[in-house]
Amino acid sequence: MGLSGILSRSSKRASSQGAKLGQVIALANQKGGVAKTTTTLNLAVAFQEQGFNVLGVDLDPQGNLTMSQGMDPDTVDRSMFDVLVHSLPIDEVIHRTEIDLAVSSIDLAGAELALSSMIGRERALQKALLPVRSRYDYVLVDTPPSLGLLTINALTASDSVIVPVQCEYLSLRGLVQLENTLSMIRENLNPTVEIRGILPTMYDGRTLHSKEAVEMLKENFGELVFDTRIRKTVRYAEAPVQGSSVLKYDPSGTAAEAYRELAKEVLDGATPREHA
Ligand SMILES: Nc1ncnc2c1ncn2[C@@H]1O[C@H](COP(=O)(O)OP(=O)(O)OP(=O)(O)O)[C@@H](O)[C@H]1O
Ligand SMILES: [Mg+2]
Repeated sequence: MGLSGILSRSSKRASSQGAKLGQVIALANQKGGVAKTTTTLNLAVAFQEQGFNVLGVDLDPQGNLTMSQGMDPDTVDRSMFDVLVHSLPIDEVIHRTEIDLAVSSIDLAGAELALSSMIGRERALQKALLPVRSRYDYVLVDTPPSLGLLTINALTASDSVIVPVQCEYLSLRGLVQLENTLSMIRENLNPTVEIRGILPTMYDGRTLHSKEAVEMLKENFGELVFDTRIRKTVRYAEAPVQGSSVLKYDPSGTAAEAYRELAKEVLDGATPREHA
């Protein structure tokens, strides 16, 4: 199916879901290097700045989200692997960093194989989140660049999906495959999961190519495309080296502001609930 093949589908973005909190949002795109991890961390910190309780879940064996908070996935002894495969309570792998973060480790690379023979293999994350979901306003799940069992677990556990897309033509084509996977998830595992929005990243306003890529996104996906654009800047690569989000690394810079803007768009008027 070409890009035009999904035009018939509603291209209206998942509505605000206003005060409904305790939401799980997956950051997914099987294409590598499109800013899934960068968006997970910085959106999480931007939500937190607004007074929301946020849990980040690193579901990528590369462990980039874990690393971007200054931890080494090679040396953490218990991780999301143990949670998914051995039913370890997720609380045991949550580290308190800028956000609460359920960490990844290299073991997670073996999770797909270990899960594949288990009953309920697609629902391991959904089950793991149940006991902690009510403590958080938002749970943001970072996924690996594939549509394997880890990403399927994330999509099954989620209320909605944010899809970061690099502003270039070749990145747009992968969205059809992601849409097809989401349709299968809706049919078989999670009937209500929706695309919360498509986020243009690494936007370079000086190039025609970036502008054309966003135009093409809007032609094909309409209102699903967020108004916020994340511009290309080296700040996003510098911050993780310091083990921090860009909101902490350069709080008043335009890179931080972009994720605050995205947070506003995603929150769409939702306000923090009172926490005990
Ligand atoms: N807006 C941006 N401008 C410039 N560089 C960026 C931007 N966003 C992210 N980067 C950098 O691009 C690289 C890829 O970003 P990131 O790791 O967030 O992508 P990803 O989709 O999670 O990758 P993977 O698929 O490997 O998990 C990182 O080095 C990151 O610092
Ligand atoms: Mg990543």
